[in-house]
Amino acid sequence: MKVKKSSKSSWFTSCFKHQEQTTFKITEPPPPPVEKKITPDNSVQRISITDFSNISTLPEDLSTSLAGSNLYIFSLAELKIITQSFSSTNILGEGGFGPVYKGFIDDKLRPGLDAQPVAVKLLNQEGGQGHLEWLTEVIFLGQLRHPHLVKLIGYCLEDEHGLLVYEYMPRGSLENQLFRRFSVCLPWSTRMKIALEAAKGLAFLHEAKKSVIYRDFKASNILLDSDYTAKLSDFGLAKDGPEGDDTHVSTRVMGTHGYAAPEYLMTGHLTSASDVYSFGVVLAELLTGRKSMDKSLPNREQNLAEWARPQLKVARKLNRIMDPRLEGQYSETGAQTAADLAYQCLSHRPKARPTMTMVVETIELLKNFNEMEFGTFVYNAPTECKIESPKKEEEQKDSKKDIDGHRRHHRQHDHQRHRRTKSPVVHSEIDLYRNLSAGTDSPP
Ligand SMILES: Nc1ncnc2c1ncn2[C@@H]1O[C@H](COP(=O)(O)OP(=O)(O)OP(=O)(O)O)[C@@H](O)[C@H]1O
Ligand SMILES: [Mg+2]
Repeated sequence: MKVKKSSKSSWFTSCFKHQEQTTFKITEPPPPPVEKKITPDNSVQRISITDFSNISTLPEDLSTSLAGSNLYIFSLAELKIITQSFSSTNILGEGGFGPVYKGFIDDKLRPGLDAQPVAVKLLNQEGGQGHLEWLTEVIFLGQLRHPHLVKLIGYCLEDEHGLLVYEYMPRGSLENQLFRRFSVCLPWSTRMKIALEAAKGLAFLHEAKKSVIYRDFKASNILLDSDYTAKLSDFGLAKDGPEGDDTHVSTRVMGTHGYAAPEYLMTGHLTSASDVYSFGVVLAELLTGRKSMDKSLPNREQNLAEWARPQLKVARKLNRIMDPRLEGQYSETGAQTAADLAYQCLSHRPKARPTMTMVVETIELLKNFNEMEFGTFVYNAPTECKIESPKKEEEQKDSKKDIDGHRRHHRQHDHQRHRRTKSPVVHSEIDLYRNLSAGTDSPP
């Protein structure tokens, strides 16, 4: 078995205390502990965080219960080797959870584990919330497998250290690709490819037999492979969907400024429609090239969803708010269809929003517009945003050359340290509520 038993960690106890005190307001008492073996897919047998109610035996429970998921349990010593002692030159980025390091697993480390680059996320030591997010991530991502969810390879649980080991995504996050200074502009077809694949990831979660609400859909949690395949990461805030006759899950309000659905902010009632709203925000980001929340803009433009929504419906206005970096290089019909979709996702009435399955079907249609007007939906990375029509073979060769240039460019950025002192993730109801007040009088 790949599982290496690690020492029982004291912080698990604090993690669960914290859950009871400040994190999730669970309306129903948790069910009694159940010993379940899971399969690493979308089956009904998926275990939940509430299945681990006996905190004194939790670490053993975790490795036993997740034994079927093929997760590796790494020692801290192994992760030091993998990340060159957590060298600062290996830092890929840092969010609210802690720093993320690039590492490399060689084929001698564990039998059956292929040599591969990985990303290692180290939990910050402060606070119990991080511990709960760590555990939530292991439990959800350890069991869910899909081409558009990032793969969790394993974890480390030693003394005070909680770490997560993921497949390495060479192009980092969509947030970095869209908004980082000096980043190369993503062409329209790539933006729609990313929207489609992220939507497929979300639809998979919502349509699971035991559905999952992701709760943290945003550009920084969409990671990109070398060919711009999009995968969702960060399941620390995920929740099991409502069961039986329940229409929603009641939680403490948590999420990120600019992405959380208004009704969720007001009531704490979480549904899959909350994720659909957040998807609408990301779609609006892809269309406009603006961040979900930008404090440097005039007041009425700071919240992208509130500012953009009325303009998404009207073709004449849409042209004015489309990302200027695209320089008009997009299918107008496709852009209008995507904008209509964003408009619906951003409805203030959750029931008026489409399901993620409907979203996937709509974006699939965009391929046809792109193919009609631009020849292909396949990514052709330019060195600049202005894209040439890739119809001719000659031009396709040129685009390929550009891909290499693009990759080099980004590697330089990957090696730059990207540290943020504070993550935009919001753990305060009051802060989110204040944020909402800017947009309460917007159209439904
Ligand atoms: N599997 C991965 N492969 C490559 N880079 C990654 C991977 N996971 C994370 N990163 C990089 O690390 C950065 C930080 O990720 P992290 O999820 O910790 O924070 P975040 O999403 O930016 O913020 P938040 O805490 O609000 O979720 C990402 O923006 C991305 O660039
Ligand atoms: Mg993240």
